[in-house]
Amino acid sequence: MVVVLMGPPGAGKGTQAVRLAERLGLAHVASGDLFREAIAAGTSLGRQAKGYMDRGELVPDDIVVRMILERIGRPDCAAGVVLDGFPRTEAQAEALDRALVAQGKQVNAALELDVPEAVVLERLTRRRICRNCQAPYHMEYSPPAQEGVCDRCGGDLYQREDDGEATVRHRLQVYAEQTAPLLSCYRQRSILRRVSGTGEMDEVAERLVRALGRGAA
Ligand code: AP5
Repeated sequence: MVVVLMGPPGAGKGTQAVRLAERLGLAHVASGDLFREAIAAGTSLGRQAKGYMDRGELVPDDIVVRMILERIGRPDCAAGVVLDGFPRTEAQAEALDRALVAQGKQVNAALELDVPEAVVLERLTRRRICRNCQAPYHMEYSPPAQEGVCDRCGGDLYQREDDGEATVRHRLQVYAEQTAPLLSCYRQRSILRRVSGTGEMDEVAERLVRALGRGAA
């Protein structure tokens, strides 16, 4: 099964993709996480992506597509995957479809997390991320047990370069212009489900599972 999780920056894609992947027994692949890992490791992929990311712009399609197709071709994705942050342009969606068709697969569901802009701004400007495993925290809604330390792996928490208010506003504009048009493609295929992303994180997780036609476990 291939599930695409969509929604503006800060909608909760990373938070929910981990839960959904665990619930469904699928791999979780997040394009932003892969880029941040490459930046931390100082690879040429990281150097290519960093400037675009810091400015809140999309990394060019050819770079993203190569990285994601390589990742979803690995054995842990054989049973299926929750894609978080990919595709983000029509060219990326087409490249994904071509690669899946070649493997006898397809995008089975696209889930759109719907969150008002004011909520997104509040979430992102107070978000902290683990430098090691990239788990997201929020200083008020999901703080770590010990300030500055990841509950999951003990890594340092930091604020992303692109989480300042001006860059978040630019990322929202980029989403509206370049990514939101993809929603209608998935709607036309009758595989788009829109889910409210506000409320408790566990409630949102239940809504997503239900939108896929799966009951409470
Ligand atoms: P990426 O890392 O994908 O960022 P994004 O899509 O902008 O999304 P975010 O990670 O900011 O937010 P999220 O929706 O995952 O929310 P989260 O769960 O963390 O991309 C970064 C950059 O990489 C892009 O700008 C681009 O440059 C590049 N890139 C990546 N993919 C690309 C692609 N395909 N093509 C080209 N370029 C690409 O939640 C946010 C906060 O809210 C957290 O603090 C969380 O704890 C909190 N929160 C979550 N849910 C709730 C809730 N229900 N209630 C209260 N708080 C909540």
